[in-house]
Amino acid sequence: MATTTYTVAVGENWPELVAWGPTGVEDGPSPLANHGRVHFITEADAAPVEYAPRGTRPFSGADLVLAEDSWWRFADATDDRLTYVDGVTGVEVVLCYEPVPDTDVLLRWVELTNRGDAPLSVERFGSAGFCVPTNGARLTFLSGQWAQEFQRQTVNLPAGRFRIGSRYGVPGHNYAPWLAVQDATGGQAWGLSLAWPGSWEIDAEVDPTGMTRVRAGRLPHPGPLVVDPGATLTSPKAALAYSAEGLDGLARVWHAYERVITRQRTRPVLYNSWEATGFDVDAAGQLALAKVAADVGAELFVVDDGWFTGRHDDTGGLGDWTPDESAFPGGFGGFVDDVRALGLDFGLWVEPESVSPKSRLYAEHPDWVYRVDGRPLTLIRNQLLLNLGREDVLEFVWSMLDRLLSSHPISYLKWDMNRPATPRGPGVSDLDGAHVRNYLEVLTRLRAAHPDVLVEACAGGGGRTDLATIALSDVVWPSDNTAPLDRLSVQDGFLLAHAPHLMSSWVTDAPGIFDARPRSLRFRFVLAMAGVLGIGADVSRWTAAQRDEARDLVARYKEIREVVHTGEVHRLPDAVQYVTPETTVVLAWNTGALPGIPEVPGRPVRLPLTGLSTGSHVDRESGARYSAAHLTHVGLPVHWTRDHDADVVVLDHVAT
Ligand code: GLA
Repeated sequence: MATTTYTVAVGENWPELVAWGPTGVEDGPSPLANHGRVHFITEADAAPVEYAPRGTRPFSGADLVLAEDSWWRFADATDDRLTYVDGVTGVEVVLCYEPVPDTDVLLRWVELTNRGDAPLSVERFGSAGFCVPTNGARLTFLSGQWAQEFQRQTVNLPAGRFRIGSRYGVPGHNYAPWLAVQDATGGQAWGLSLAWPGSWEIDAEVDPTGMTRVRAGRLPHPGPLVVDPGATLTSPKAALAYSAEGLDGLARVWHAYERVITRQRTRPVLYNSWEATGFDVDAAGQLALAKVAADVGAELFVVDDGWFTGRHDDTGGLGDWTPDESAFPGGFGGFVDDVRALGLDFGLWVEPESVSPKSRLYAEHPDWVYRVDGRPLTLIRNQLLLNLGREDVLEFVWSMLDRLLSSHPISYLKWDMNRPATPRGPGVSDLDGAHVRNYLEVLTRLRAAHPDVLVEACAGGGGRTDLATIALSDVVWPSDNTAPLDRLSVQDGFLLAHAPHLMSSWVTDAPGIFDARPRSLRFRFVLAMAGVLGIGADVSRWTAAQRDEARDLVARYKEIREVVHTGEVHRLPDAVQYVTPETTVVLAWNTGALPGIPEVPGRPVRLPLTGLSTGSHVDRESGARYSAAHLTHVGLPVHWTRDHDADVVVLDHVAT
């Protein structure tokens, strides 16, 4: 790892964490080792255990729970694999460790093999457990619901257990599969993020000594996982991160890691027609929007929901992925060509896993959906979910996408999923695992067969945001809520866990669908410039002056896009700073009071910057020159007025 060491001692019955922090922390007595006597519990319950079965650690939280308890013994170790074996149940567990070069991230997972002769029933299957040398914990997590994803929450836990998770078959809107742990007093931060687009659980327990132990993994749901004799079950990867620079530093560790696992492509400025036209998609209306989008500088035009047969509202169409002929009288191909003739790339929305009960697909394959025989079908958003774990459904979904992308010059796919998995029928083991496996398989095939197509991950907003999805996508749609002040807090939470080059953000209309606190067009643009800029407003209603302003801001964004997507992020109250050695970009928003200047005496607001190289920094627009010391200790001046509620400042670094 770049600057972090993770040291484990291999014991006869379980491995223990010795040290986890900046390189060198391992030289000295372990802060986690227990120096006292143990009462009423087992030695393993009090130890800083890396991973243990319930037989060994019955009281304080086991990482592996089998129907029949297990006790295992050390069998073998290499630098990155520790093997433990239980001769009675036949369980062989390999604990896998993979430090990610040049980052401060360690990947951990488990390979469980059944060496016995009877099936094993797995009730809890953690990817990793780990201890943090705290004295009472401060936990930071991201919670919410549809349209309110990624809300940053903090809980102080002097003792006891904290738990988050999802039973939706996707990571879900309620909690991100992500957690940060600090000491009760704050400071350095340890973090966890899961690579699993299915149901999951994370819990943290502060023991009576104040130490925090975290367990994380997929959630066997609705029933246990069954491992047949000779079979191996591999857990999802858990990514562990450390930063000496607190939560802001931890966010930078996650950003650097996500830059490693995602493709380095320029993310285009897009226009998406969903908020402008809803399900009323037709060639003429879309082209009218595309013309304005091209005029203001968008690079990609995405037609969202509503382009396919039977999709006049949310009750029909899903599953029948052929363009609606009545909406595209000149043919869909001709329409795509017309959009591209404007100089725009073309993108399309799909929801491959879902099916409408009214669709032809459902009429032909009623057995392809998750259902419990003899029980009513549960509809959510009027739709059902395909059992993607079936091989015939996988091939249907893949060939549908492959055909679509091979028939038209499509360079962007928004993959949505608006319906969680409800009960799926008895008698089949691990539906969640099979669905996830084939979802990732389709994304993998897409990337291999259509490497130039960018994929946007979406599940009714940010409902499927996890490291496995991210590794096979290019952008994420964090939330359907694009109202300015709501969005500011969604983006603040998103950037705590995920990188700006993944954060899709649109400028939409004011007043919009959600919060009723309108902000200027400039405010909405600067907000969307904090990640991957898109426009979702009904631009056909924009005045010439609004178009001019939009054109300027899009051009400004293109100048700073590289810095926003690759720079180090430093968060300030109502501002974000992106820093490369050459350039610093500051995006700032006024959400509070105005100082009243020039009507009354006053001084401009100052934003103290961080992470700057020494030397001078010159404002590219005004030419103002500041020393790093001035910007750090006095702050960058911003002049808020009634009409000026957001700012973009680009500072070029001059060494002397
Ligand atoms: C979901 C997405 C939206 C939009 C609609 C279309 O809600 O999050 O952005 O694509 O579906 O039905």
